[in-house]
Amino acid sequence: IVIVLDFGGQYNQLITRRIRELNVYAELLSPKTTAAELKEKYPNLKGIIFSGGPNSVYGEGAPKVDPAVFEMGLPIFGICYGMQLMADHFEAKVERADIREYGKAMIDVTGDSPMFREQPVSQQVWMSHTDKVVAVPAGFTVNASTETCPVAAMSDASRKFYAVQYHPEVNHSLYGQEQLRRFLYDVCECEGTWTSANFVEDAIAKIKEQVGDKKVLCALSGGVDSSVAAVLVHRAIGDNLTCMFVDHGLLRKNEAEQVMEMFAGEFKMNVVKVDVRDRFLGRLEGVTDPERKRKIIGEEFIRVFEEESKSLGHFDFLAQGTLYTDIIESGTATAATIKSHHNVGGLPEDMQFQLVEPLNTLFKDEVRAAGTELGIKDEIVWRQPFPGPGLAIRIIGDITKEKLEILQDADFVVRDEIRRSGLDKEIWQYFAVLPDIRSVGVMGDERTYAYTIAIRAVTSSDGMTADWARIPYDALERLSTRLVNEVKDVNRVVYDITSKPPATIEWE
Ligand code: XMP
Repeated sequence: IVIVLDFGGQYNQLITRRIRELNVYAELLSPKTTAAELKEKYPNLKGIIFSGGPNSVYGEGAPKVDPAVFEMGLPIFGICYGMQLMADHFEAKVERADIREYGKAMIDVTGDSPMFREQPVSQQVWMSHTDKVVAVPAGFTVNASTETCPVAAMSDASRKFYAVQYHPEVNHSLYGQEQLRRFLYDVCECEGTWTSANFVEDAIAKIKEQVGDKKVLCALSGGVDSSVAAVLVHRAIGDNLTCMFVDHGLLRKNEAEQVMEMFAGEFKMNVVKVDVRDRFLGRLEGVTDPERKRKIIGEEFIRVFEEESKSLGHFDFLAQGTLYTDIIESGTATAATIKSHHNVGGLPEDMQFQLVEPLNTLFKDEVRAAGTELGIKDEIVWRQPFPGPGLAIRIIGDITKEKLEILQDADFVVRDEIRRSGLDKEIWQYFAVLPDIRSVGVMGDERTYAYTIAIRAVTSSDGMTADWARIPYDALERLSTRLVNEVKDVNRVVYDITSKPPATIEWE
């Protein structure tokens, strides 16, 4: 394991991911973590990375690191702020640069640092800094520089301290990943055993140990996370796991059947389907306000879950597909509520369960790899994100059975056509929205007065920001023709060309 101490930079999660991509397990920790804590919690620790961050080391309240961390005898790699911190600790001068460097830059490599071995002496990197290290501390040598940044990389090989001013974790640093690999394998002497096969094996052993012969309940939504969590727990404890799949009727076309077929049929898991379609439609009747829709669905889901789980017997544990990102992001969420998100499968707070969260150390792409490892089909493993409240927040205005059917059919066409066009893996989310409008058209010499379908397709890396996908015109044309021909009561198709911000991905 390698620890990344988080000094607040925007790429810090990415550093952790990049390390894991190199088959070394990494965790992102608070910069306040002390050397003693590290020693106690991670007896197998091989190295430490100091991340970037927005502060100036000489500024007031700048986060510092426990000085004892430098005395642990472990390799350290400082990135951006992390390098300035290392320089500052060893009493070298860090000051504001005359020119703020942001973007691509060329570094010239000098000397023979193991970090730059077998790489071009002139290479492109990604810079984003205002401060710079003016001169290296005693014992250090300069390994690279740019025209404006005399110390772009430095090291003290005898103590295994390395540092760079740029961001090796960003793709624009063309040899950044290679440098991380050199640090992990050549300097830290990591073994590279972090693979999805090993993860699956470990996770199964841990679940067995945690649960023993007790019973576990899992709310299965058919999304990637809950599916992978359920299959993992099932591998560990077999029929002591019961999954509950709540069909609230706001799912995509054929989704309920697919989920049942895959988990109950193929994986032979205990899955109880609860059909509450009428109950949800009834509760949502006449409701047009997006937040009210979300609240009703969230609350109703929890009620159904509580009622139904009682009738299934006694459970000690609840399995959830919580991800590592959910854990590192919770607690920092001070932003205004734009939408109340509901995770179908979310935990009713006052329920007396212990949690089994086998994915809480994984990033999304690692969950997908684990899913594939477990033999889960691509159609589930590569499923696009689908909001807990389902199609309810893609029908603008009140929800009726008729509108729900139109949207399910339209959504089916959009997904099918995008997949046929081979665009499905590059587009983050693509779906149909049913705005509350009808307009006049002409079909076969007859006047029509029917619904409009809006196509929403965005590219994104995490859903926090997004751009509208540049779908080729011919694919849009096929979409438009198919939507009007195949979906009853639709005579017009529009394409949503707003990014997030200012819009959001979902319309409600
Ligand atoms: P917005 O619409 O806020 O969506 O730009 C960002 C991402 O979150 C998904 N989304 C939800 N996911 N429960 C969820 O589990 C929700 O209530 C919810 N609302 C939006 C949305 O599909 C997109 O991926």
